[in-house]
Amino acid sequence: MRISLTEDWSSEQGKSVKYSMKSNNCEVRTTAPPPSSGAEKIIGLVGDLPAMPHIAAQVVQKLANPDSTPQEIHELISKDQSLAARVLKMANSPLYGASRGVSSIKEAVIFMGFDTIGSLIMTSVMKDMTATAGKSGKSLWEHSICCAVGARHIGRNLGYQRVEEIFLAALMHDIGKSVLFLQIPDIMGQVVSSVNGGKSFPEAERELLGFAHMEAGRLLAQNWQFPLAMVDAVANHHEPDCAATAGELTHIVSIANILCHKLSIGLTKRPEIDPFELQSAKELGVSDKLISETLIIINNASFNKKPNVN
Ligand SMILES: [Fe+2]
Ligand SMILES: [Fe+2]
Repeated sequence: MRISLTEDWSSEQGKSVKYSMKSNNCEVRTTAPPPSSGAEKIIGLVGDLPAMPHIAAQVVQKLANPDSTPQEIHELISKDQSLAARVLKMANSPLYGASRGVSSIKEAVIFMGFDTIGSLIMTSVMKDMTATAGKSGKSLWEHSICCAVGARHIGRNLGYQRVEEIFLAALMHDIGKSVLFLQIPDIMGQVVSSVNGGKSFPEAERELLGFAHMEAGRLLAQNWQFPLAMVDAVANHHEPDCAATAGELTHIVSIANILCHKLSIGLTKRPEIDPFELQSAKELGVSDKLISETLIIINNASFNKKPNVN
């Protein structure tokens, strides 16, 4: 398995993992099929969920196959010129910290590795999705990428080796929101007003839509055949204790998400949050020092950096 987050994600991390099997008040679940009325409600209101771009889907499947070769990946990516161009551009961007120039897809695949290439491709897919999500798209994109960068930093410092998997899960965590802004922008505008008035996003969405973006995200993640652990993070990032199989991953995404809220990166702005009192951080043993560092890293990845973040 190269790119995928799977049920045995946790066993590959080089440290023991607490599984989170929860039962109390968990409205979004990963393993159980969604209540049909919930899924019907979403499809009824939102319409058909978007399909994952064809070549990107094929590449992600190839990357997940341990028998795939760099040549196969290179040939597949090269079939889609705009994807190839974007992979190269991103491979050379400071976000991925390429220390040397990467001039071809083949080189990118060989030197950056399958996991990172997978992240590059999904970043490109996510960027496209948020770009079509109306005026909130830029904000959603900034939130997604900042959350991904922050979660990767936390994961790396907690000793996880497959940090690109954490990056991917955090990158996609609000994918349901992108779909909702794309399909029902007017209602989501009302949701944002409600969030600005102090409600949480899930609270406002449930009042106005009858479901929240995590439920729409879970449906999309399942349709796109995301690995189970990533579905878990998408479905439960607001209630990480409800994660069915990937508790630590979901907690890491949750921490990065809340730190983005603290820094007002995205549509939820909560500068009043005390970043050193996060329940998920306590559960994972994340130090105050790591929280402070992550705030700085997230701020540096944002489009409008704040002068002082501590
Ligand atoms: Fe969310
Ligand atoms: Fe979020």
